[in-house]
Amino acid sequence: KAHPRLARVMASLTRHLHDFCRENEITIDEYMAGIDMINRAGQMSNEKRNEGLLLADIFGMESLADEITHKLASEAKDAPTATAILGPFWRKDAPIYKTGESIVKGFPEGDHVMMHGKVTDFDTGKPIENAEIDIWHTGPNGLYESQDPDQPDMNLRGRFYTGPEGEYNFYCLRPTKYPIPYDGPAGELLQLLDRHAWRPAHIHFIVSAPDYKPVVTQIFDRRDEYITNDVAFAVKESLIVDFEPREGDSKAQFELKYDFKLASY
Ligand code: DHB
Ligand code: FE
Repeated sequence: KAHPRLARVMASLTRHLHDFCRENEITIDEYMAGIDMINRAGQMSNEKRNEGLLLADIFGMESLADEITHKLASEAKDAPTATAILGPFWRKDAPIYKTGESIVKGFPEGDHVMMHGKVTDFDTGKPIENAEIDIWHTGPNGLYESQDPDQPDMNLRGRFYTGPEGEYNFYCLRPTKYPIPYDGPAGELLQLLDRHAWRPAHIHFIVSAPDYKPVVTQIFDRRDEYITNDVAFAVKESLIVDFEPREGDSKAQFELKYDFKLASY
């Protein structure tokens, strides 16, 4: 066969879908409603919005794929930094900043955070110089810049590079909890199921360096009311952090230290 894995996986998917229809006695009307939802999700999607991903994520599909993909890493006792879902709002070509700069171009009224730490080699513990840290998070209004005409382009997104000791530091905002967009098929389904749309406050990262496996991840604010009830099922214990009060810095009220450990290929 030309595509043995595809052939095997599709046979399995077909079997499960047929079982699902039989078990639930899915009617033609229900089937068409489901197809319509998938079509509308596709029509809504563009480079700024991935409704298909949202639709699957609210059933834990990306979170499950992440867990399966990184199974070995998560089973190790002392593991590289845990991964988490990418989600629909990453944008390529975020602005490159120098160490110590801020990704905040709008919302000066938000709670500012000085975030810092190290990127190290998981096996040797040695620092990784020139690792790239790509960051994105929502504004205090719970919207990513790409969803919000009132924010400057690329607000709250940025890329930083580590120094010789693997160190990094930058300013961002303390993230706020955030409802996934409610105005499409994903939101519609959540409403029909009486489910909330909230993701706990989080900051997204992609940490990468030549010869290392990139880590796509998020950190989560321990104090968030949705920390145990994430609509996208992405929270992992090792990714929960505490923002500490910061003294004597006119640029930030909070501080966050977080180290990233990368595994080599
Ligand atoms: C999802 C993930 C996010 O990080 C986000 O901000 C919104 C939605 C998701 O997986 O559905
Ligand atoms: Fe997000």
